[in-house]
Amino acid sequence: MSKVVLITGCSTGIGRDLAIRLSESGYAVVATARNPETLINLEAALKLPLDVTQTDSVRSAVECTLQLLGRINGLVNNAGYAIRGAIEETSERQVQEMFDTNVFGVMRLVRAVVPPMREQKAGCIINVSSIAGKRSTPANGAYSASKFALEALSDALRLELAPFGIKVVVIEPGSIRTHFMTTAIAHTPEQALSANSPYRMLYRQSELFAEGMQRHQSGPEAVSRVIQQVIETDKPKARYLVAIPLSGRLILYLGDSFWDYALRRMFPSSAVASHE
Ligand SMILES: NC(=O)c1ccc[n+]([C@@H]2O[C@H](COP(=O)([O-])OP(=O)(O)OC[C@H]3O[C@@H](n4cnc5c(N)ncnc54)[C@H](OP(=O)(O)O)[C@@H]3O)[C@@H](O)[C@H]2O)c1
Repeated sequence: MSKVVLITGCSTGIGRDLAIRLSESGYAVVATARNPETLINLEAALKLPLDVTQTDSVRSAVECTLQLLGRINGLVNNAGYAIRGAIEETSERQVQEMFDTNVFGVMRLVRAVVPPMREQKAGCIINVSSIAGKRSTPANGAYSASKFALEALSDALRLELAPFGIKVVVIEPGSIRTHFMTTAIAHTPEQALSANSPYRMLYRQSELFAEGMQRHQSGPEAVSRVIQQVIETDKPKARYLVAIPLSGRLILYLGDSFWDYALRRMFPSSAVASHE
């Protein structure tokens, strides 16, 4: 019997690549997207509308999967996006909306799939976090906060669900070539686009930094390959860093002063702005 894996956010990027990979490997994939038209050309056992910010949408996708396929062996909480901007210039509404997807969306899915997984006495929940869930950088603080929150809730969940045979794993990708950056740019707060923004130099530096990162991006298959390995491992680790070069991994272990020093070198514009 093939394993049933439900994936959120399959319209593009990592979710779509994963849906294709797992379907080709014989899994019964439940590919979901908030706009089901984006799934038309995708091969999957089941294609369902699912907006992670809507409790009813989550419930009906899970119920429909159980009715038609009888079980859910794996859940991949992949749907998510970033907003860019200095904390001061990021609106409360934008941050709340992002948390509604990146954090509360995951909790909605967890509440819906854990009861059937507990009955099965087995299951695997994979939460797609980010390197930003380990370290926060200027103009990316709100997104980082959402991924830090996801890391924290995953750590608690891993221990809460272990007695029921349900595994919880966090995936922490570096920079991946998807629609992610385009969506992040589209979510840049209005104030940040103003020529009068006190952070304009930081934003310029941050754009240059992102452009530099884009030249070294991995494709989404780097992440979906690791997710497949996790699904197929009996004893997965708690978290997996993906597509992060050795230098990037080492920097994670720096103390705060060294980290700030490295960041000031990466984003010297914030210092320039303060001396104008
Ligand atoms: N790309 C990177 O560099 C990178 C690095 C680290 C972590 N990540 C994480 O990887 C995950 C996937 O991102 P990606 O890189 O594949 O970007 P992407 O191509 O922009 O895909 C994001 C997916 O999330 C979906 N989504 C957003 N809000 C949703 C909602 N309310 N309900 C259901 N689906 C929703 C999008 O659907 P629509 O098409 O409807 O918007 C899209 O399918 C995200 O959690 C992201 O934070 C990405």
